[in-house]
Amino acid sequence: MKETPKLDISKSLEAFEEACKLVPGGVLGARKPSDFIQGEYPIFLESGKGCRLTDVDGNEFIDFMCGYGPIILGYREEEVDDAVCRQIKEKGFCFTLTQKYQNDLAKKLTELVPCSEMSIFLKTGSDATTASIRIARAYTGKIKIMRCGYHGWHDWCVEMKGGIPRKLYEDVFEFGYNNLDELEKLMAIHGEETAAIIMTPFGHPNHEEMQEPAPGFLEGVRGLADKYGVVLIYDEIRTAFRLRMGGAQELYGVTPDLTVLGKAIANGYPISVVTGKKEIMSAAADRLFISSTFFPNSEGFVAALKTIEILERDKVLENIWEKGNRFVQNIRVLLEKYPVGAELTGVGPMFYITFERDEEGLYKKRRRDFYTQLIRKGFFFSPYHHAYICYRHTEEDLNMTLTAIEESLAYVQEKY
Ligand SMILES: Cc1ncc(COP(=O)(O)O)c(C=O)c1O
Repeated sequence: MKETPKLDISKSLEAFEEACKLVPGGVLGARKPSDFIQGEYPIFLESGKGCRLTDVDGNEFIDFMCGYGPIILGYREEEVDDAVCRQIKEKGFCFTLTQKYQNDLAKKLTELVPCSEMSIFLKTGSDATTASIRIARAYTGKIKIMRCGYHGWHDWCVEMKGGIPRKLYEDVFEFGYNNLDELEKLMAIHGEETAAIIMTPFGHPNHEEMQEPAPGFLEGVRGLADKYGVVLIYDEIRTAFRLRMGGAQELYGVTPDLTVLGKAIANGYPISVVTGKKEIMSAAADRLFISSTFFPNSEGFVAALKTIEILERDKVLENIWEKGNRFVQNIRVLLEKYPVGAELTGVGPMFYITFERDEEGLYKKRRRDFYTQLIRKGFFFSPYHHAYICYRHTEEDLNMTLTAIEESLAYVQEKY
């Protein structure tokens, strides 16, 4: 099997060299070259349309990262962008007081999200998870938190602890997804002092295989929250408006007390939400100050209302599930045909190809070569993060991707 030639990413590398003198590390967080394969992936993008990206060197890619989750329709989705542009040009979006779109969106969420009775609106997922914790603490008068999953970059939950005093996270305890025993043990010790259990209802831990809930897991967590009088919060930043309009709580039929939403709700425009039971949410008004200059800016609200309208009108999620299911099923067939230790986890709309660990670390080479071949062929997946499918992926795009996956697997099989 022929090796696919390396991409010319010289302009990306040049821009990165300049960036390193201006921005610590060149680029922040999960966009770092080391979060992909250094020297193979572009570092700066120029533009995108539909499911396609163009980097600063002019390389084109069919994208499966969807901006790390917000792109549910496609890049530069005209109806959404037009609605936002009209808002900006005809009315304005940044004011001293709130425009009333918040009422429209809050009302819509009560129809779509099972636990939604009242909502507050913020900008980022981290804003929302952090606010949900504050609300739960204010409501219960307790401090401790049980958590499961990635919840953003704020002090109480980020993995890298540099710059964070221990006292800011020492009351936060982590449990594994689908590990009810672990949570039960933690609750037996800390339950009476615990304010909230916050978890992703679908298992998508960083860099690891995805997991659907084992039978009884979500119900078991719900039961523990009720037993100890703890606020159950679902972090549906990735799963709402993607697995179902109302998130994984709608899909799996277990309802939390509060939930946080973001990413796909507005096809890329900044808005996030804490929504949930009235009694608990009211604590936000009575005892807390949650405010930011940009929280009421209306571009995110307008984009969310338009995105939701399109998702409902065009039955977008049904479309994504249908083609996603077929796509992952076809990938599974290829993974059996080329037994190189690769496995697929997740579901049609969000899935991940990982490589089974072995003691000699051969899996790292296989993973590197597999994803290198894919990016060189023009298919943007991440070796360290799951993939997404959006509305604008066509059958033809997915079929081309299957061919590229097959060739990349064949290459790895032949090499090792
Ligand atoms: C499940 C989950 N929660 C919270 C966050 C934090 O969101 P943001 O990056 O918008 O702050 C993310 C971001 O990836 C996420 O995936």
